[in-house]
Amino acid sequence: MSHVVITGASSGFGEASALGFAKLGHSLFLGARRVDRLREVARACLEAGAREAEVHELDVRGKKSIDEFCAACGTPDILLNNAGLALGRDPVSSMKDEDLVGMVETNVIGLVRVTRALLPRMIAAKRGHIINLGSYAARGVYEGGAVYAATKHSVRVISETLRLELSGTNIRVTEMDPGMAETEFSIVRLGDESKAKKVYEGWEPLTAADVADAILWVATRPPHVNVSEVVMTATAQASLTKVHKG
Ligand SMILES: NC(=O)c1ccc[n+]([C@@H]2O[C@H](COP(=O)([O-])OP(=O)(O)OC[C@H]3O[C@@H](n4cnc5c(N)ncnc54)[C@H](OP(=O)(O)O)[C@@H]3O)[C@@H](O)[C@H]2O)c1
Repeated sequence: MSHVVITGASSGFGEASALGFAKLGHSLFLGARRVDRLREVARACLEAGAREAEVHELDVRGKKSIDEFCAACGTPDILLNNAGLALGRDPVSSMKDEDLVGMVETNVIGLVRVTRALLPRMIAAKRGHIINLGSYAARGVYEGGAVYAATKHSVRVISETLRLELSGTNIRVTEMDPGMAETEFSIVRLGDESKAKKVYEGWEPLTAADVADAILWVATRPPHVNVSEVVMTATAQASLTKVHKG
């Protein structure tokens, strides 16, 4: 039985992974801003077989919120750093300042602060697994995605550096880099459900369950095996800019 801490567990990959870990009988500590949604996820996790499923409000853009969450969450065997978002599709020349700051604070600063708060306990326990949600966008660039891709390139650099810094501690570090998946991601990014739906029309994107499957697979390898990176896309997605439709 492992203790699994998940940031951004109120929807998408975080929710699907929570359910997957629940089916294995693990204990869960779930964070996000939408606590009502978290409670629903926790209820489903308990029904699915979780040993425990606790929820705690978490805004990874706030240091105080992170400190309170991390003070309450115990020592994770598995830390799934999943909270993240893209805001807008504007080119650099016209992107909104709030989108720039929102992506950097959530995807980079938030992830590092959560990791920094929990690592001393994991190091003392001499075990643990940090699974960071990067993105296929960490592997290239696309127009209208400069800052989102930059934040995910950063997550990749942070994951690689952690593997070096944690050498000898028994702590594993995995970088998950999925391509386009139909979650609430595009609704958040585009601010509009009908625009978001169009992104996935005419082809079959990844689902949250597909990505959760891969997360569960890396988390259930024997302790001496570290899957460093997983790059996965829908079969129809050949690159960051090429999706086969129809
Ligand atoms: N879907 C894709 O195509 C795709 C592809 C590659 C990588 N990713 C990455 O995968 C991760 C999960 O995305 P998803 O597709 O599952 O999207 P999603 O359905 O929108 O889920 C995002 C999760 O992050 C949480 N979150 C966002 N801002 C937060 C904040 N300030 N504090 C705490 N939690 C926050 C959200 O919870 P609250 O809103 O309740 O706080 C939600 O639970 C993200 O890091 C994303 O960048 C997504």
